[in-house]
Amino acid sequence: MTVDWTEYGAARVACSDALAALASLSANSIHAVVTDPPYCAGGMTEAARQQAKGMTPGGQATGWFGGDAMTTWGLIALLRQVALEAGRVVVPGGSLAVFCDWRMIPGLGPALESAGLRWRGVVVWDKLSQGQGNTRIRPRHEMILWLTKPGPAVRGPRTIGTVIPAKRVPPARRHHPTEKPIDVLTPLLEALVPESGVVADPFAGSGSTGVAALATGRKAWLSDADPHFVEGIRSRLRAL
Ligand SMILES: C[S@@+](CC[C@H](N)C(=O)[O-])C[C@H]1O[C@@H](n2cnc3c(N)ncnc32)[C@H](O)[C@@H]1O
Repeated sequence: MTVDWTEYGAARVACSDALAALASLSANSIHAVVTDPPYCAGGMTEAARQQAKGMTPGGQATGWFGGDAMTTWGLIALLRQVALEAGRVVVPGGSLAVFCDWRMIPGLGPALESAGLRWRGVVVWDKLSQGQGNTRIRPRHEMILWLTKPGPAVRGPRTIGTVIPAKRVPPARRHHPTEKPIDVLTPLLEALVPESGVVADPFAGSGSTGVAALATGRKAWLSDADPHFVEGIRSRLRAL
């Protein structure tokens, strides 16, 4: 399958399925895949995830997005494939960093590891305030699984700890329903990607990974399956 990449300065953007986008990149050609796939956590049960809201494609129209209605097992199968491709495209020692929530960790970590990567740790995004929900212990964090391809360490210029504090993007400033703050992505990229290095995000959403990469002198290959969001990435990059 041909993937049509368009250049915007140091970024390239494509509307594509994640696997096809990664398959279009050459082996050992980038330093990290940093990505935030759908969590498929839109319902408390597997059945709830597959109800109408989650099954509706197209993000902005519904406030939701395609791909978020998969079962946990479907998501894990997809992300193992993503990890296999990530392991092919990153240089030896390069990284795969995957955002996730607590529901995914028991299945997802081993699935990514089984693609031939080394599971190096879990980074916590501390949102600095608790979320909503009819529960006594309310979520205040999300997680990022970090794996590397065997080889000599590929380092960015910055050393970070396993907790990154950053406020959520306020709803009025959001380009995407689940947009990740630049303040989370910047330290991750500075730790994992050398200056002038390249990061790919195949579930790019609003393109936040690209905005953080460009702001710190890195290159970014950004793709998403939803044409609406891809148009948003293009406008965001044009406005930089
Ligand atoms: C959690 S959002 C990413 C948000 C992004 N990190 C941001 O800061 O804006 C996940 C994205 O994955 C996209 N997506 C879902 N399934 C996909 C697939 N199979 N291939 C590529 N993109 C997909 C959705 O359209 C959605 O925009």
